Amino acid sequence: MSLSACNQTTNKQSTNMTDSTTVGQLPAASGFEKTIDGKQTKLYILKNTKGVQLAITNYGGRMVSLLVPDKAGKMIDVVAGPGSVENYEAAKGNYYGALIGRYGNRIGGAKFTLEGKEYKLPANNGPNTLHGGKEGFDIKVWDAKQVDDHTLELSYVSADDEQGFPGTLKTTVTYKLTDDNAVEIYYAATTDKTTVVNLTSHTYYNLNGNGSGSILKHTLQLDADGFTPVDKTLIPTGKIDKVENTPFDFRKPSTIGSRIAEGDEQLKFGQGYDHNFVLNKHDLKTPIATVQGDNTGIVMEIFTEEPGIQFYSGNFMKGEFKFKGDIKDDNRTALALETQHFPDSPNKPAFPSTTLKPGQTYKTTTIYKFSAK
Ligand code: GLA
Repeated sequence: MSLSACNQTTNKQSTNMTDSTTVGQLPAASGFEKTIDGKQTKLYILKNTKGVQLAITNYGGRMVSLLVPDKAGKMIDVVAGPGSVENYEAAKGNYYGALIGRYGNRIGGAKFTLEGKEYKLPANNGPNTLHGGKEGFDIKVWDAKQVDDHTLELSYVSADDEQGFPGTLKTTVTYKLTDDNAVEIYYAATTDKTTVVNLTSHTYYNLNGNGSGSILKHTLQLDADGFTPVDKTLIPTGKIDKVENTPFDFRKPSTIGSRIAEGDEQLKFGQGYDHNFVLNKHDLKTPIATVQGDNTGIVMEIFTEEPGIQFYSGNFMKGEFKFKGDIKDDNRTALALETQHFPDSPNKPAFPSTTLKPGQTYKTTTIYKFSAK
């Protein structure tokens, strides 16, 4: 990128050129070329016939950028996050854009029992294990195969006992960008010992564009009559509460900020929204979540085979790390909607099971579809 393009974006002194991205452009591929654990990281670009582009790095299988048209036809990067491997590494605990494994969200007390045996995991979030442990799939270099212009296949083999989980887990995640402006994510895994698995995408979105400020005026609709309330360490109590008459009722579109400051105990625990919603009966044909950016009119619809979705309103973002365009990751300037089985399911027998046995294949699909109005 030229210096003038860089200055146009930031209006201030840039300290790291690799992360300076002009609105409507992808970050420089050079910021993604690194060798980690003897493996090469890279930036891969998918394209469709509508001019939509999706950039993914095999460092953590992360979605780096997604350029989609707004209501005026201008291309907007709706993925909020860093623009180089170095800046992803610095912001490790925020999981920007990453594929999460083996277990998305928390496992209480950093342990679980399976077939009578107790497994101990590293605690990396107070007393709990978050997003697969200290060294989750988000920091692994995945093997990448660009199948064609719109398909990238990533694979990672997690060794038996990696982060304390039993079984060799062979994982494949395929990203596909379709001509109707959808990002389809196909997850698959097999194991050689009984284990637990819960894979997700931790992409942060700002539908007004990366670096365009707060997401509190985005509207959100969630097809969920219930959610799983948590204790103060964000572990589900095991109950499913009704959203009715609570700030968790997004069954009709509502702005994210309209009730976030209410004195609700659950919102205090999460410092905002950081909860698993129990999706109503659904299939892949009807969206379970719809979000719209107030400035661009960009709409994101989510379709999934998973029973739950974690809605995280970027509460722990503190402006400590760099995003594309050399801006900071300020509080609540992005949101994550992570399709998943419920947190702590390995310790909650009443929740849908996350157990995977040898001979079975874990298979799940989630689709993020974009339009504007
Ligand atoms: C998930 C968790 C949050 C937080 C983010 C990453 O959404 O539920 O508590 O850890 O990941 O910062």
